[in-house]
Amino acid sequence: MTAIALEVTHIAKQFGGLVALRDVSFRVREGEVMGLIGPNGAGKSTLFEIVSGNLTPSSGRVAFFGRDCTGDPAHLRRRAGLCRTFQKVRLFESMTVAENIAVSARQCVKPGLDWRVEVDAILRRLRLEPQADRMPAEITLADRKKVEIGRAVAGFCRVLMLDESLSGLTHEEAEEMIGEILALNHDTGITVIVVEHVLSVLAAMVKRLVVLNNATVIADGTPNEIAHDPVVIAAYLGTKASVLR
Ligand SMILES: Nc1ncnc2c1ncn2[C@@H]1O[C@H](COP(=O)(O)OP(=O)(O)O)[C@@H](O)[C@H]1O
Ligand SMILES: [Mg+2]
Repeated sequence: MTAIALEVTHIAKQFGGLVALRDVSFRVREGEVMGLIGPNGAGKSTLFEIVSGNLTPSSGRVAFFGRDCTGDPAHLRRRAGLCRTFQKVRLFESMTVAENIAVSARQCVKPGLDWRVEVDAILRRLRLEPQADRMPAEITLADRKKVEIGRAVAGFCRVLMLDESLSGLTHEEAEEMIGEILALNHDTGITVIVVEHVLSVLAAMVKRLVVLNNATVIADGTPNEIAHDPVVIAAYLGTKASVLR
C-alpha cells in the first residue's frame, strides 16, 4: 500500500467575515502528481499557506505522512520535507541564481551532506547551470520560477506544492516546465501538488484533479471525469468546451 503523503481534513479558514475555505478534505498519495484547480479566489493559495504552516486554519487538521502537523511552525514542516513555492515569485534580488538556491540548501540539507553539492545538483537538474551566476532580474520569468522550485526542493523534499508555476509562461515554456516537474517526480519520487486555474494546462499533466470552487472541494477525479462533471462545468460558467479550453 502506498503511503498517504498529505491529508487535509475538514480545513476551514475565515478572514474576518470572509470564508476562504470551508470543510476542505482530500488525500495525496506518496509519488502522486495531483492538480488542484479552481477559479481565482477559490482558496487555493490559502490552502497552501495552511498546509505549509504560514497560516493557522480556523478548524481542521493537516497530516504529513500520517503525522498531525497542524500546530507545527513552517520551518519545521520545511525541514521535514513539506515544500512549496509562492504564487508571486520571491527571490533574493541582490543574490545570484546559485546563491538563492544555496540559502535554502544550507538551511535544509541533511546533516553530513555538502550543501554545495546539492546546489550543483539542483542547477543541473533544472537546467539552470547557464544562469547560475546571473542575477534574478536578468533571467526570464520561466527561469525565475525554476529558481523558486530549486529553492523549494533544496536539501530535503518529500512533498512539493507548486502555486501557479505554469501561469504567465509561453506555451513552450509551460511544456518545458511540465517536463521538468514530471522528471523530478519520476526520478526522485517526490509527491507533487500543482495549483493552476486553467484546467487544460493540467489535464495533460496529471492523472488526478481536485477542484476547489467558492472555498470548497466540488470534485475529485481524473481529468476526463472532471471535464465532464456538470458541477465543475457550472462553476466555470460555461460549456464542456470552455472548461477544456
Ligand atoms: N490574508 C488575507 N486576508 C484576507 N482575505 C484573504 C487573505 N488571503 C486570501 N484572502 C481571500 O481569500 C479568498 C481566497 O484567496 P486565495 O486563496 O488567494 O485564492 P486563489 O489562490 O484560489 O486565487 C479570496 O477572497 C481572497 O481575497
Ligand atoms: Mg492563488
